[in-house]
This record gives sequence, structure tokens and C-alpha cells, in this order.
Amino acid sequence: MNITLVISLAVLVVLAGVVVLTAARRRETTGVLSRETRSRDQKADRTANSREFERESVASRSTALAVPQSVAVAPWTPPDPEAIGVSRRQFFNRATVTLMSAGLGGFGAAVLGFLWKGAEGGFGSKINAGKVDDIIAGIRSNNGFLYLPEARAWVTEYPKESLAKAEAIYASQAPVFAGMSSGIVALYQKCPHLGCRVPTCATSQWFECPCHGSQFNRVGEKKGGPAPRGMDRFAVSINNGSVVIDTGAVFGGPSIGTNTTGQEAEGPHCVGAGGH
Ligand code: FES
Repeated sequence: MNITLVISLAVLVVLAGVVVLTAARRRETTGVLSRETRSRDQKADRTANSREFERESVASRSTALAVPQSVAVAPWTPPDPEAIGVSRRQFFNRATVTLMSAGLGGFGAAVLGFLWKGAEGGFGSKINAGKVDDIIAGIRSNNGFLYLPEARAWVTEYPKESLAKAEAIYASQAPVFAGMSSGIVALYQKCPHLGCRVPTCATSQWFECPCHGSQFNRVGEKKGGPAPRGMDRFAVSINNGSVVIDTGAVFGGPSIGTNTTGQEAEGPHCVGAGGH
């Protein structure tokens, strides 16, 4: 008998032993019924057959589920909301609706107020600045420049002797020239360079922008600095002797080099002109 056969037989014996041991342990784990239990089960099998047992079970369930005919069903009445009170969900729902309504109402009121103001006057509409004589007097009493905050405009006098020269320059801006013919120029306060508010300079009698040094003469024609043109201006009309400035009609300032009035600086500058 060679060695391989011996080893194979040994392995088979070991495996068989393992199988036998495992089967024995499983039986121990499952447990074995005692003799008393087995004899009691055999008696029960003899005394009760399964069909009877099932009939009894069905009968007992039917009895348990039967609804007595004598019981009257009470009509449903809705619960009293006052008695129940407000649930947390109801509270949050109502709070959300209330807050949203208040927010929308406020926003609507603000929009209406804005539109109402625009319809009545303010920047973007036609503004009655007052009688022509009063405006001229106001300009002179304010050292040559009158500021109208509601129009965001500087109002200055346009010299009558320069009208002939201006007519050709401002021919394409009839509403602007109409104001000039009445002796008035209404200049937008916003610098045409980058939008700074342009103040006046009392000594030079020019407009001089503090942001980058653009300079304009008293009628808004560019004299120096980086601005690409003269100051923008509004349409002006005279209605029953009153000056009406249409801040919804903005006209671009005259091109660089325009100098219809020939006004040079009348004193020291307030800011240095930019190097552009
Ligand atoms: S914004 Fe006025 S010069 Fe630049």
C-alpha cells in the first residue's frame, strides 16, 4: 500500500469524524423532547383532530368580531375650534401669511409712493423753477450760479451777445437753445467724465470737478481735464413767464473745443486740471 493511499484514507476518516461530531452537536442544540411531552402530544392528537380545532377557531373569531345589533352609531359632530385652540402648524401658517401680506403691502405702498412722486414732480419730470426774472435774480445773487436740488441742476445765465455763435453749435438741441434764448442754461450736476457731482469755483467762475479735475466754463463748455465733452444739459421752456426744466430730457454736452462765450478763468482755480 503506497503512502498516498494511506494519507487519503486518513483524510477520509478525519472528515467522517467531523461530520459525525457536527451532526451530534446540532441535535444537542435543537434539543430533544422529553418522554412526558411526547406522550402528552400523542394524547392530544388522539382527542382533537385538526378539522374540529379549525371549526372551533373560526367560530370563536366570528363571535369576537360580531357587532351587537342593538348598539346605535352616534352622529359625527365637528370639534369646537375654540375648544381645540390654535395648533402650532396653524400658528406658523397664519404668521407666514400675515408677514408676507405685510411685506407685499409695504412694497406696494413704496412703489405707489415712488410713482406718485414721479407723476407729481421731482427728478425725471418737468420742474417749474419759478418766474424768469426771479431765476435771473437768484443766479446773480448767488455769484453767478443757482443750484436747484429738485432738478439736480445748476442754472446759469447765457449771455445774449453769444447767441449768434451758439445758434449754430446748438442747432440740433432746440429745447436747449430755447432756454439759452431766454437767457438760461440748466446744466446737469453730474460730471460727464465719471459722474461726480460738479461744484462751482467762486474764484475762477467755472465748474471744477474735484474727482479728476475736469473744468467747464459757466455755461458748461469744457475747458480742461479728462471729461469727454461739456456738461450735459436739460431742455428748458418758458411757460406763462415761468422757467420749466424738463429733467426727463437730457442732452449731451457740447464737444471738446466748443467755446461760445469766450469766458476765461476769472481768478485762481479751485482744483488743478487733469492731464488728459
Ligand atoms: S468725474 Fe469729474 S473729472 Fe472725473
